[in-house]
Amino acid sequence: MTKLFSPITFKNMTLKNRIVMSPMCMYSCENGDGKLTPFHRTHYVSRAVGQVGLVMLEATAVEKAGRITAKDLGIWDDEHVASLGDLVKELHHYGSKAGIQLAHAGRKAEDEDVNYAPSPLRFNEKYQEPSELDISGIKRIIHAFGDAAKRAADAGFDMVEIHAAHGYLINQFLSPLTNKRTDEYGGGKENRFRFLKEIVEIVSKEFNGAVFVRISSDEYNDAGNTLEDFLFYARQLKALGIDLIDCSSGGIVPAKINTYPGYQVKRCEAIKHTVGIPTGAVGLITTGIQAEEILQNDRADLIFIGRSLLRNPYWAKIAADELGYELEAPKQYVRGWR
Ligand code: FNR
Repeated sequence: MTKLFSPITFKNMTLKNRIVMSPMCMYSCENGDGKLTPFHRTHYVSRAVGQVGLVMLEATAVEKAGRITAKDLGIWDDEHVASLGDLVKELHHYGSKAGIQLAHAGRKAEDEDVNYAPSPLRFNEKYQEPSELDISGIKRIIHAFGDAAKRAADAGFDMVEIHAAHGYLINQFLSPLTNKRTDEYGGGKENRFRFLKEIVEIVSKEFNGAVFVRISSDEYNDAGNTLEDFLFYARQLKALGIDLIDCSSGGIVPAKINTYPGYQVKRCEAIKHTVGIPTGAVGLITTGIQAEEILQNDRADLIFIGRSLLRNPYWAKIAADELGYELEAPKQYVRGWR
């Protein structure tokens, strides 16, 4: 039995295998309304037909001002729920579990008149200077995450992932590079963690199911969060009942990143073993053999696949063939599967 094709359970969600479609913005909404288009449905459902265990929808904005671009998907309004719910039903129909990544871009919002951040520091000269959030603004966004989680539950999602990576708003609070506040949301790591902590609390209250958190576990900057800081955050997330930490990296400040196959797995493994919490590995994992090595050596619990699934919705079939595993075919495709 391969581990990649073995089931795993998080709270009330059992995945048929360990393959997760990594959240990927498709920038395909029309009219700035944040609603699903036929493209999104084709895109996500074809990965469910391709036997991905957990199909995770892209970074989805919890408030309009939290979009990276005007073409981002949204969950800031009750109007978004019905069509998201229809998509969830289709993903279930083809045997996948359905997840959604809840996000706020903060200072990396590109198309807004005003964007928000813990401190008025821009990412680089291409971005405008963000407006420093006051306490009422912070509370507004925490509540927006809670409302979004409730909508995700209403739409029938099996899990939600809080996007605390890649230099977006939550990451901006976590990092000493971008958080220069002197109130209870800035300063030491306990204070920098407070925004994420309050978001986790409200999301867990509104969403009765598995909750993952994606972090950037390396900031590639000597003045940024250290591995010790990330281990502290991971311990806190475990104590808050988070089911899995999805370990990505980078994006908080401009940096040169040396990428190679599995380049983010080391920190994922360190967090898993030091803290004792399930983790997801992501980043240049492209083959079944590579994924199986990570799982067999207990370096992660789930494998998130990004660009390889853009190239091939049937990546799971190729991975299964490599591992000599007989992957069940969608019944329409049996004649082409062997
Ligand atoms: C991404 N990525 C990403 N990450 C995230 O947390 N939320 C998102 O919405 C997006 N959007 C996105 C769009 C596109 C087109 C790409 C290629 C990537 C990052 C993605 O989830 C993944 O972490 C990386 O692509 C690394 O994994 P792969 O592609 O090497 O398997």
